[in-house]
Amino acid sequence: MQITWLGHSAVKIKGTKTIYIDPFLSENPAAVTSPEQVTEADIVIVTHDHSDHLGDAFPICKKTGATLVGIHEIAVMAEAEGITAEGMNIGGTVEVKGVKVHMVQALHSCEQGDPAGVVVEMDNKTLYHAGDTALTYDMKLIAEFFLPDLSFLPIGDRYTMGIHSAAKAVEFTQTKKVIPIHYDTFPLVDADPEEFKKQVGDKAEVIILKPGETHSLP
Ligand code: NI
Ligand code: MN
Repeated sequence: MQITWLGHSAVKIKGTKTIYIDPFLSENPAAVTSPEQVTEADIVIVTHDHSDHLGDAFPICKKTGATLVGIHEIAVMAEAEGITAEGMNIGGTVEVKGVKVHMVQALHSCEQGDPAGVVVEMDNKTLYHAGDTALTYDMKLIAEFFLPDLSFLPIGDRYTMGIHSAAKAVEFTQTKKVIPIHYDTFPLVDADPEEFKKQVGDKAEVIILKPGETHSLP
């Protein structure tokens, strides 16, 4: 499985299916990938409707025919634009094209619906994308129910967890690997991923990527 960080919270997961989560590309100052370069996608997952997460999700779905997965209110907006969507809500699971998506809690705000995180199961790998969230004690349930092979956790502070909270989230979720996200996009979310790595210590493998870089998950 090939995991590519596209900058901010945008990730591409390529396994049996190609999945994008929070594809914020055209307005993303950190992105090196343009939405025009996205030619193939099976599933596009949106954690919440803030513009730095909804991003280019709808145009990508329209172009590629990908199914959008998001909370009910976002799915309704997508369907109104002719996009195939699977609406869901926190606590639920949907299976789309052989991929399981569990929607989990995020402590944050948004315009429509509620903010969420997702746990994705594909090719016998379990990945947790926390979306935008504060640290919550409920993240211990991620460990109990899912034991992620890899997690994407925000570390940029101000709008989400900062480094200290995110290091605690690694402990709560018992994730084996972690890719820090939602930092260094704008000056307001600047953070040092090496400091995060130091605070995580031996609790997990911290994979620091540059936007556009790929990590192979064996
Ligand atoms: Ni947000
Ligand atoms: Mn955000």
